[in-house]
Amino acid sequence: GGEDELEARPPVVTVMGHVDHGKTKLLDAIRKTNVVGGEAGGITQAIGAYQVTTEVDGEERAITFIDTPGHEAFTAMRARGAKSTDIAVLVVAADDGVMPQTIEALNHALAAEVPIVVAVNKIDREGADPTKVRGQLTEYGLVPEEYGGDTMFVDVSAITGVGLEQLLEAVILTADAALDLRANPEMDGQGVAIEAHLDKGRGPVATVLVQRGTLHVGDSIVAGTGYGRVRALLDDHGQNVDEAPPSFPVQVLGLTAVPGAGDSFIVVDDDRMARQIAERRASRLRMAAQAASTR
Ligand code: GTP
Ligand code: NA
Ligand code: MG
Repeated sequence: GGEDELEARPPVVTVMGHVDHGKTKLLDAIRKTNVVGGEAGGITQAIGAYQVTTEVDGEERAITFIDTPGHEAFTAMRARGAKSTDIAVLVVAADDGVMPQTIEALNHALAAEVPIVVAVNKIDREGADPTKVRGQLTEYGLVPEEYGGDTMFVDVSAITGVGLEQLLEAVILTADAALDLRANPEMDGQGVAIEAHLDKGRGPVATVLVQRGTLHVGDSIVAGTGYGRVRALLDDHGQNVDEAPPSFPVQVLGLTAVPGAGDSFIVVDDDRMARQIAERRASRLRMAAQAASTR
């Protein structure tokens, strides 16, 4: 595929921040606003990756959000999240202010050279001090636009819904100003597993983010040491879809094994090739484990 086949794709945004500062609640609130915008049903899935749309300058724009846990045990996940993302939304509770995992998340985003938008959450709370949060983050080099810096800060409340539209707009403006997000949807799909688990009824279920190309039902794929023919693709409302274009998060059914979070996936020519690649990976891992245990 040549340059001319590249098409605009939505930004992939990882939501990071200290434990309980409201990342998940904020995403829930954003999705609810979006449901009012015309989608049927409530929230049916909690896969931690969602695509929403918003209107900016009269144009419908999609944004893909990925939730992450704030607990300190999830350092590796934040590092991975920052790498597979276009923009980081750093959530800071306005009553708590900057905390250890706020700084850790900020450092991952800076290391990955990802633009940051700050969501100052819980401004409905008594004791909320959004000015203090701005001052604290300025000390870490994240200077708000209103102080002459280049980081957009948006005051929000996941409970009252204030500021949510402005947050989506800030994400789009930041993407448009700092990034040229394009991909060729005609290519074979490839991307990364965000989360995966073994479901009693459905077998291995992997939530993947398509980063390039388009993933289709019926494709032969390898994901980590798992492989298989894609039996079904489910969007973030649990609805079956035939294909997943660039920046789209989907659940994949049909794998033989559960991939690890952060494992890449690729589409290959046929099932036989998928199995060969997966088995080669598995034997490499076994050899590495053996070497480690005999050392
Ligand atoms: P982890 O995933 O555990 O890191 O937490 P989180 O950042 O996803 O926080 P979560 O969304 O679970 O919210 C933590 C608590 O804060 C919940 O009790 C929420 O109801 C509450 N909360 C979140 N946002 C707001 C807000 O804007 N205002 C108020 N008053 N409470 C909020
Ligand atoms: Na929480
Ligand atoms: Mg959460």
